[in-house]
Amino acid sequence: MTGRYELHCHLDGSVRPDTIAALAAEQGLDLPAPARQLAVAPAGVGSLHAFLPYIDVALDVLQTPQALHRAAAELVADWQADRVVYGEVRFAPQLHTRAGMSLDDAIDAVAAGLAHGTAATGVRTGLLLCCLRHQQPGVSLEVADAAVRRRDVVAGLDLAGDERHPGTPHREAFDLAHGAGLPVTVHAGEAAGPASVWEALDVLGARRIGHGVRSTGDAALLDRLRRDQIALETCPGCNVLTAAVPAMAAHPADRLLRAGLRITVSTDTRTTAGTTLDAEFAALAATFGWTEAEERLCQDNAARAAFA
Ligand code: HPA
Ligand code: ZN
Repeated sequence: MTGRYELHCHLDGSVRPDTIAALAAEQGLDLPAPARQLAVAPAGVGSLHAFLPYIDVALDVLQTPQALHRAAAELVADWQADRVVYGEVRFAPQLHTRAGMSLDDAIDAVAAGLAHGTAATGVRTGLLLCCLRHQQPGVSLEVADAAVRRRDVVAGLDLAGDERHPGTPHREAFDLAHGAGLPVTVHAGEAAGPASVWEALDVLGARRIGHGVRSTGDAALLDRLRRDQIALETCPGCNVLTAAVPAMAAHPADRLLRAGLRITVSTDTRTTAGTTLDAEFAALAATFGWTEAEERLCQDNAARAAFA
């Protein structure tokens, strides 16, 4: 088995529960329940908007450079244990400014943590910044500006968050990235349907789509995704949790991989979705009979679609 590529992983949703607890204790923060209970979405969570708040407890403790550095370095170690040789992590620096960090401070801390992790493990990494759908377009513009300015450590720009909010208001941020040649991925077709994926492609210029699993009813969209070799960053366990798909057996990864789409497999959030790539590929094997050959196809797709 060759090494794995993970393209879609959120830092704040992938902090070890023990680390959340340790950081809270260090920071004198009283957690109202065990960290695991606060940070891991339960099986019945049932929607993206109900899933996202489980990330908030990690955000509460990730307001210092030291905490961000630790979370990033530990993620790289967790990737190594999961046989990942190249991982892209994404985070929204604008959510880490409550205790005085600037966007650049947050970016520097994560980049340093990743570099530390790479030095310790040999796992290569890329860093993406997330704009958020529910925030004002001006905030997204600041994030895009930081991404472009910090191209030394930033490999791409993303749009994340609650998909009940449209992407079009954030167009200027994505135009800024395009103008600088910074590649773009957009979460779409997760909680909303094909129109959201079309918007990600045609308005925001996405080269990859986060999830995209609700693209299946639209034959013209599937043709477009295939023709332009747009990678779908599917996260099957997370997609079942948020009810983007009704059950693993209904997940389109198998069908679309066989139809020649650039399907990739990621965790989304190792803690919030409670998963690893080992677990994801085991579930795909159990559900669809995937062998090493299908996993290899996904890894080749991910290698081709990597931003860094
Ligand atoms: N969708 C949108 N935003 C997110 C997700 C997701 O699956 N996970 C973490 N932030
Ligand atoms: Zn995501």
